[in-house]
Amino acid sequence: MIILGIESTAHTFGIGLVTDKGQILANELDSFHSAEGGMIPHEVAEHHEQVAEDVLQKALQKAKVSWKDISCMAYSAGPGLDPALWKGYEKAKGWSQRYKKKLIGVNHPAAHLSIGKQLHRLQDPCYLYVSGVNTQVIVQEGGKYRVMGETLDIGLGNMLDKFGRMIGLGFPAGPKIEGLAKGGKYVALPYVVKGMDVSFSGILTKICQLAEKGFAREDLCFSVQETCFAMLTEVAERAMAQTNKQELLLVGGVGANKRFGEMLSIMCKERQATFYNVPVELVRDNGAMIAWEGYLRRKESSDISVNPLWRIDEV
Ligand code: ATP
Ligand code: FE2
Repeated sequence: MIILGIESTAHTFGIGLVTDKGQILANELDSFHSAEGGMIPHEVAEHHEQVAEDVLQKALQKAKVSWKDISCMAYSAGPGLDPALWKGYEKAKGWSQRYKKKLIGVNHPAAHLSIGKQLHRLQDPCYLYVSGVNTQVIVQEGGKYRVMGETLDIGLGNMLDKFGRMIGLGFPAGPKIEGLAKGGKYVALPYVVKGMDVSFSGILTKICQLAEKGFAREDLCFSVQETCFAMLTEVAERAMAQTNKQELLLVGGVGANKRFGEMLSIMCKERQATFYNVPVELVRDNGAMIAWEGYLRRKESSDISVNPLWRIDEV
């Protein structure tokens, strides 16, 4: 069985093809970039419109399959940017009608988690999901996801992107901040953990003020990483202790950051647990993870339109 997955919740339009054994046959994508701005929703949707057919053809060629080999199609039903989600859904619906394939709407965060779990064949990890929009510590209980802690304001990726925009790094800023941080030294910043939750907006205000005062970009990049990653390491450790989990899985775009992975892996080692992350091609938004989630949900889900505010604990 081969499943085609379509990702379009935000900056990336992706198409993945996976088998029912979890083998990834193709995972092609094209991401919206902008030199100085963030993501302007209608520009992102326009980008997806422009690249969709091309990404599809590349994926089919890479996997060496044609439409007749595909059993069903999955698409990201939410959460995400309204125009981008609708564009993906429009493409999914068009192809499904033309090629007569069943549509399966899936939850995008759940797909991030499932692909990592499948990759490492994990049983029951504690998940740390840190992307643009989302920052959550999640566990599974009785077949449902439970959010144990999360950001009270913005996701860490968006916070890094806003800061990056302010200091002229363009979008996405996360990888550039990681590069600059290598030459930096520590500047004290607020450390905001409230119970199991975290907050980044005060830190963002502070680093923007320091940048205006002329503090070195390298020092601010280093300090924002150290502070925010330490906050999330603390919360993840507490969640693991409370739920007795022995495995921690980091997913979401910020999970590409090497320093973040290093801090989490030290924490896990100290408590005889194991840390797992996901290679960059599967950690960022991509179609293969949507295809795999579609396979897992093929019996319970169908064409469910889009839901821009669909939380993982409502799945
Ligand atoms: P979601 O819809 O799942 O919330 P998303 O659509 O915003 O996520 P992802 O691809 O999961 O997208 O993550 C993108 C974010 O990851 C961006 O904010 C980007 O700056 C950040 N990012 C990417 N690479 C790095 C890195 N090396 N270090 C820090 N942040 C990074
Ligand atoms: Fe994502």
